[in-house]
Amino acid sequence: MTVSEVRTRYLAFFAARGHVIIPSAPIVPGNDPTTLFTSSGMQPLIPYLLGKDHPEGKRIVNSQMSFRAGDIEEVGDNRHTTFFEMLGNWSLGDYFKKEQLPWFFEFMTSKEEGLGLDPTKLFVTVFAGDPDTGMEMDTEAVGIWQELFKTKGIDAEFADIGSEAAGYEHGINGNERIFAYDAKKNWWSRSGVPANMPAGEPGGPDSEVFYDFGLPHDPKWGPKCHPNCDCGRFVEIGNSVFMQFIKNADGSFSNLPKQNVDFGGGLERLAFATLDKPDVFLIDVFDTARNAIEYLSGKIYGSDEKITKSFRIILDHMRASTFILAEGIVPASTEAGYVLRRLLRRAIRETDRLGVKDKVLASVAEEFADKYADQYPRLQENKLKILDEIAKEEEQFRRTLETGLKQFEKAISIKSGIVSNADQRKELEERVYIKTLGAETVFELMTTYGFPEELIREELASHNISVDDWDMVKSLFEKHRELSRAGGAQKFAGGLADHSEQTVRYHTTHHILLKALQMVLGDEVKQRGSNITSERLRIDFSSPGKMTPEQKEEVERIVNEIIYQDLPVSRTVMPREEAEKLGAQMEFGVKYPDMVSVYSVGPIHATEENPDIPNAFSLEFCGGPHVKSTKDIHDGGKRFKIQKEEAVAAGIRRIKAVLE
Ligand code: ALA
Repeated sequence: MTVSEVRTRYLAFFAARGHVIIPSAPIVPGNDPTTLFTSSGMQPLIPYLLGKDHPEGKRIVNSQMSFRAGDIEEVGDNRHTTFFEMLGNWSLGDYFKKEQLPWFFEFMTSKEEGLGLDPTKLFVTVFAGDPDTGMEMDTEAVGIWQELFKTKGIDAEFADIGSEAAGYEHGINGNERIFAYDAKKNWWSRSGVPANMPAGEPGGPDSEVFYDFGLPHDPKWGPKCHPNCDCGRFVEIGNSVFMQFIKNADGSFSNLPKQNVDFGGGLERLAFATLDKPDVFLIDVFDTARNAIEYLSGKIYGSDEKITKSFRIILDHMRASTFILAEGIVPASTEAGYVLRRLLRRAIRETDRLGVKDKVLASVAEEFADKYADQYPRLQENKLKILDEIAKEEEQFRRTLETGLKQFEKAISIKSGIVSNADQRKELEERVYIKTLGAETVFELMTTYGFPEELIREELASHNISVDDWDMVKSLFEKHRELSRAGGAQKFAGGLADHSEQTVRYHTTHHILLKALQMVLGDEVKQRGSNITSERLRIDFSSPGKMTPEQKEEVERIVNEIIYQDLPVSRTVMPREEAEKLGAQMEFGVKYPDMVSVYSVGPIHATEENPDIPNAFSLEFCGGPHVKSTKDIHDGGKRFKIQKEEAVAAGIRRIKAVLE
């Protein structure tokens, strides 16, 4: 079946059982400061799982776009993807275990209404109990599963799988099909086991279903195979969470006001189970993109392990990037934008491994935008912007990638050369020396060449170099951060040629001017540079076009009016976040410390529209120095005058101005 068929069938199946279909929430939740991405279907529903009434009722179903950045390094095997759609059905204080498990079983096995999966390929797990919290084994779920398998003529025996410490030595014997695992595997909350849950977090025991692809067990993953083994034979396709508990502040658990079911099923995984092919990258949504990569690289998917891994990373990361870009996130050095950058740069590196040196990734993304056109029209609506951002990032990273890799090669060849030639004592000494070099090279790759951390880890792993210097890399990073912080402060001081009386007057005028420019040209105006001497002030700012003579006059008028109001100028030290909340102006690209100094021109007061937000004529992150009152600027007669307004770069204007 195609992904679209599986999605349609699932929604229809649960709609026929009284569920209301709700749309997918955005993949980047705008209103949740605790998380960058939506990583499961239940995340947007937390308030309702905690007891709030859902406007659509007690039975809800949807397909939720999800992204798990934590899985980025898992991508490359037959089943992991960072982006996926999670099929979800919820009971909000309505049905429970006795309805949920039979419905999901029917959906998986029914040929008419569901997926028609072969029930002999299904293995299930249940919660074994948790001695730490006194929770008991879920014997009810065991009984329900046994009955369900019996309806298909299958004798499903139950077994406790044993402990992780002993390598789940029990394995699978005879007719065993239902296995009890501990809280680590069969308890679900967003933060994992009960002990890791913060107060107020909902969670509960769960029951997972695995599809058996019948691959031979790989003993690299443990002595015996079992449903949760990572060898690739079993793939988890759905998880019914019986969300009935909430963690209290004292660490104990209480029942939620209502018992809920939170079911999550991997749409793509269910789709590849219907194909009975043990590879998620063979489902239809990847077809055209996979063909495009084959065409661009001349390499064939599946022809060799390394090539296949590169394809998988490119396919996954480009699909995820396309969805993230569609929501207006662009590559950046922090937060969601940084995750996006890591995905794109890793995909670029993998195309490079396939021998592709040109900019090609926009064409791969285009395949996804087209494939998902019906279900997610946003991808089409924003297609040009998405492709443009990808092309820009690819252009930028490809410029440094090759030199960065050469640097890397140089650093490791020194290591192997010395190690193989040196005598025992010398070898030891040299190794220490080279380790240090490694950390510095790693650091340089990150800062100068823009290599994300996991990309470097992979380069190291593929050259069999252990990453035992990360502590040193970290400490280099810390130093780097401190320096750039200091750099930020310096840059500010550097805007002032000296601290003479006249220069300080120009400095305060500079603040007033920035605000006046925003009043006349719009709030989009941001400072991009400054240079202040005792002769004049200079400001560079972002603005689309040349100022008209009227605009210049208006700016001059406002600045002079403020100066002649004899307003006080004061300094306040406050947490950076607070200053940001107040809307204080900051200089682009400067990293500010946790506590910042803010200068205000005019008293900070509450305005009528915003009684909670103190205001002043101008508020700026700044280390000073400034005049005490704007009276000191006019000095009883001087007037502010713009001498010149000109372009300095695309979208950046420069003003030179004097007090005469
Ligand atoms: N919320 C559950 C999960 O993500 C269904 O597995």
